[in-house]
Amino acid sequence: MSTVHDHEPESHDLVIVSNRGPVGFRFDDRGRAVAGKTAGGLASGLRPLVADGRSLWLAVAITEADRVAAAQGRMDANGIQLELLDVDPAVYSDAYDVISNSTLWFLHHGIFDLARTPVFNERWHRAWRNYREFNLVVADAVAARAPRRADVLVQDYHLSLVPRFLAARRPDVSIVHYTHTPFAGPDAIGILPSEAGRELAEGLAGATACGFHTSRWRDRFTASLRSLGIEPPATFVAPLAPDTTGIRAVASGEACRAERTRIDQLRRDAQLIVRVDRLELSKNILRGFHAYADLLDRRPDLHRRVVFLALVYPSREGVPEYAAYRREVEALAASVNGRFGTADWQPIILDTDDDFPRAVAGFFLYDVLLVNPVRDGLNLVAMEGPAVNEADGVLVLSREAGSHTFLADHCLGVNPFDVTETSRALEQALDMDPATRSDLAAGLVGELRGRTPAQWLEAQIRAARAG
Ligand code: F6P
Repeated sequence: MSTVHDHEPESHDLVIVSNRGPVGFRFDDRGRAVAGKTAGGLASGLRPLVADGRSLWLAVAITEADRVAAAQGRMDANGIQLELLDVDPAVYSDAYDVISNSTLWFLHHGIFDLARTPVFNERWHRAWRNYREFNLVVADAVAARAPRRADVLVQDYHLSLVPRFLAARRPDVSIVHYTHTPFAGPDAIGILPSEAGRELAEGLAGATACGFHTSRWRDRFTASLRSLGIEPPATFVAPLAPDTTGIRAVASGEACRAERTRIDQLRRDAQLIVRVDRLELSKNILRGFHAYADLLDRRPDLHRRVVFLALVYPSREGVPEYAAYRREVEALAASVNGRFGTADWQPIILDTDDDFPRAVAGFFLYDVLLVNPVRDGLNLVAMEGPAVNEADGVLVLSREAGSHTFLADHCLGVNPFDVTETSRALEQALDMDPATRSDLAAGLVGELRGRTPAQWLEAQIRAARAG
């Protein structure tokens, strides 16, 4: 067990702990590990805030190139003191692919197909032991490095067991656990093998405080813990906000300008529906295309007058469900294009490149932004788009996205399972008169003004210190 580092001055009084770090590495053509920014709201929101040389960020080496970089120990990643932890690849693969992404992600998002999945067999139980081992390794690493009485901010479902392990090793530090996903309610948590469910709950209950994007996920968390006879720790609700400054910086760059021109050429004078998502089951990309096909069916007058630009970048490709989902998405887009397309009009442009300047160009130009997840902790796209859009675009937003709680008055809310309702909402958005569009867009901008990643970070630090 590690001990407090008395010899280390309080030079890093904030410690961020996450699975994916603010930078990730890849091999260049000479085989050297070179750093690049990672995607995702957590990284983009926090990166500028902790680049003060004082905070320490501990993340996990995910790729082979990360592992090479991890060997150099603590590094300065554009002002961020970063250490990548090199975990045994077999342990990590079970923890990340099997438990984090194929079990906890599905559980918290309610996307198990219960007639078939999950199956908790010996293989799964071994993976759960490796998830525990992974969380122990991370807790040990934090315990060995955190300055005395540091505020340790542990991020997300990959690290649910860290708070309890860390609290046992370092009672002097304050521990916040922040969940970026929804949280499973009592019925769903009861799907887990009982010992695993209990361990998960006890792991989180070891935190000084647990944070969530909305009160809905927080309430499910407390109800789930109580259903297992475990008293929840202090909780807080603090939604993350988009890094609008960073997005504007990308927008003013050459790459984004070129993408805007390219998209304008593709759409010609058609209205533009945009979606920007990881290629992921919870994002509900299939029902989005079904809704669009339904609209094209009902409204032949819209043919050639609308284009759906779907910027969906691959993710977690090691998980078989994701690979299968990608194939389904590609097949459905092709079938809609085959059914309605003409020589001079492609109804869906499916783009699976991970190109952030292109996504930002889409944000600037959309007439309609479709965000229809089956369930989502927050959904930053629903905030990033409206924050920078220049076309008085209309947001069609799933009521199951955390951000719907505060954007409801300024968007067209949809039940994500209801393809007919989604189709009608797309229609209403495309047909909307300019004055109503402008009112809604202004409402969104007003709601988002003043919401910053800094506030979100401060809420976590406050919760740590209140404990
Ligand atoms: O929603 C949770 C989250 O951790 C996001 O912060 C991030 O965008 C996404 O999942 C990334 O997942 P992964 O690290 O598995 O690619």
